[in-house]
Amino acid sequence: MTASVPTTTPGQVSDFYDVYNSLLRKYWDDNFHFGYWLDADDGSSVSVATDRFTDIMISKLPVGPGARILDVGCGIGKPAIRLARATGASVLGISINQNQVDEANALAAAEGLADRVSFQVVNALDMPFDDGSFDAALAFESIVHMPRKAALSEIARVVRPGGHIALTDLIRVDAEESTSPAAFMTQSVVRLEDYRELCRDAGIEIDELLDVSAHTDRTYDAMQNGIERSSEEISGKFGPGMMETLKNVMTPFAMGNVIGCAIVAGRRKPVLR
Ligand SMILES: C[S@@+](CC[C@H](N)C(=O)[O-])C[C@H]1O[C@@H](n2cnc3c(N)ncnc32)[C@H](O)[C@@H]1O
Repeated sequence: MTASVPTTTPGQVSDFYDVYNSLLRKYWDDNFHFGYWLDADDGSSVSVATDRFTDIMISKLPVGPGARILDVGCGIGKPAIRLARATGASVLGISINQNQVDEANALAAAEGLADRVSFQVVNALDMPFDDGSFDAALAFESIVHMPRKAALSEIARVVRPGGHIALTDLIRVDAEESTSPAAFMTQSVVRLEDYRELCRDAGIEIDELLDVSAHTDRTYDAMQNGIERSSEEISGKFGPGMMETLKNVMTPFAMGNVIGCAIVAGRRKPVLR
C-alpha cells in the first residue's frame, strides 16, 4: 500500500460535510463526485459530466426491478435516485451525515420515489444489516473517507454471493512517490493495482479495474474555477478564511499527475475467506 495521511473518524467526516454540503451543492453539483468527460473536446457542463459518471457506474450494476441495492456513502441522494430510475430496483442509501440523509429522503419524496428509494444514517464500517442483505452495492467516491480494507469487507459482507459491487476511488498515479498527497478528510490513497489484494482479501472477484483519470482530471480545474468565480460570495457567506481552507482541501486533487480516479467493479465471491 502507498502513502498514508492521518486517518479521519466517521464523526469528523460528518462534521466536514456539515460545512461542505451547501458549498458543494452551490459551487459544484448535487452529485458529490467527479465529472467524467469523454475527451479533450467534450464541452459538457459539470452537471452533465457528473451524471455521465453516475450512468457509467450504473452500467456496472446489472440488476433490475425487484433487486435491492445499497448505496454506500450516498451524499444527498442524486446518484441513488438515478440508479433506481435506471434499473427499477429499490435503493437504500446510507451516509454518516444526517443532513445529507434528510436532503436525500426529501429528494426521493419530491421525485415520487420514496416507496423504492430511502436513506439512513449508518456507518459503512459497521452496518446493521444481515450478511447478504443486498443484491448489489455502489460506493461512489465514498471509500476515499474510509480505511479501504475494513470498508470493502463490510460491503462484501452485506452483498449476497454473486452480487455486483462497483466503486470509485482516488488513486495515486505518480511513478514515484516523491510528494505526499495528504488530503484533508481522505484516508491513505492507494494505487490501482492495490485493489487486487484489497478485493481478494474482502472476498470480491474483480471484473474491471479501470484507471479513468484521463476522463476525470478536469474535475480539479472545474471545481477550482467554480470556487474562484464565487470567491467574494464564499468569503462573505463562510468567512474570510474559507477560500484559504478550500485551497488546502483541493490542493491534493489539483495534482493531476499524482492523484487520479479509478473504477473497481466486481462480484462478491461465494465464500468470503
Ligand atoms: C464524496 S461524497 C460522495 C457522495 C455520493 N456517493 C455522490 O456521488 O454524490 C462521500 C460520501 O461518503 C459518505 N461517508 C464517508 N464516510 C462514511 C462512513 N463511514 N459511513 C457512511 N458514509 C460515509 C459521506 O457522508 C458522503 O456522503
